[in-house]
Amino acid sequence: MNIIHDVTELQSIVKNIKHSGKSIGFVPTMGFLHEGHLTLVKEAKKQTDVVVMSIFVNPMQFGPNEDFDQYPRDLDRDRELAEKAGVDFLFVPSVDTMYNNSLSTVLKVEKRVNVLCGRKREGHFDGVVTIVTKLFNIVQPDKAFFGMKDAQQVAVIESLVEDYFLPVEIIRVPTVREEDGLAKSSRNVNLTELERIEAPHLYKGLRLAQEEIANGEKDSSKIIEMVKTYIESNTSGTIDYIEMYAYPELTNLSVIHGEALLAIAVKFSGARLIDNIIIKE
Ligand code: PAF
Repeated sequence: MNIIHDVTELQSIVKNIKHSGKSIGFVPTMGFLHEGHLTLVKEAKKQTDVVVMSIFVNPMQFGPNEDFDQYPRDLDRDRELAEKAGVDFLFVPSVDTMYNNSLSTVLKVEKRVNVLCGRKREGHFDGVVTIVTKLFNIVQPDKAFFGMKDAQQVAVIESLVEDYFLPVEIIRVPTVREEDGLAKSSRNVNLTELERIEAPHLYKGLRLAQEEIANGEKDSSKIIEMVKTYIESNTSGTIDYIEMYAYPELTNLSVIHGEALLAIAVKFSGARLIDNIIIKE
C-alpha cells in the first residue's frame, strides 16, 4: 500500500491508473477506522480494480461546539488496518493542503439538510460536500462507497453528484451490525452494561415498524408513535428524534409510499446512538 500526502503525486498516479484502463473505487474517511470502513473497502475491492482511501479530519464539517481537536486520530493503526483490508493507495493530506487559501467559491447545501441530524448541525453538510468535491476531483473515482448508517450524508452526496453531473457512481453500503442487531459504532463502547443490553432495541423498533408497514399500515405518524412507545418501554435512553421521510429526497411523508427512510437518534448516558432503516413499499 502506498501512502500519499501530496495532491500532485496522487493526481499523477490517478492519471496512470486511468491510462491503464483500470477502474478506481474510493472510500473517503476521517480515519480512526472501524469495521464499517473496512466493509466499504471490501465492497470497493469487489466492484473496482484499484482502491483509494482518504483519511482527512475535515475541519469545515465541525461546528463551533464540536471539538475538531478532540476527534480521535491514530494513523499508525489506520495504516495497518487499511493495508490489511487491501487498500492500494492511502491519501492522507494535511489541512493546509486541502484548505491552503480561504475558498473563493463556496458550496452550500440547500435541500435534504434541515432534517434529522442536519437540523442541529448548521453548516455541517456544506463542509461535507466541499471536502467530498475536492476529494472526488483529485481521486476521480468511478465509484465511491458510503455507509448507510449516515443515510442523510448519502442523500446529500447523491444530490451533489446529480446537481453537478459529477462522473462518479455513489454506492450505498448497508450498515454493519453486531449479532444482536446493534449498528456498529465506535461510540458503543461508551454505553453502560445495561445500556448495551438495551441498545439493540433501536434496530428492533425499526424492524417492528417495517413489519407493520408490510402488514399494510401506511400512516407515518402512527408508525413513528409505535416506535416511540417501543423505545420508551424497552430502553432508558431519551429519544432525540424518530423521523420518517421519502428517501433520498428527505421530504415529508405522511402516507408511506415508494422508498422511505425511518431514522432514530437516542441519547444514552454515555453515547448518542443513531440508526435507520430504508423501507421499500
Ligand atoms: O463520513 C465521513 O467520515 C465524512 O463525513 C467524510 C465523507 C469522509 C467527509 O469528510
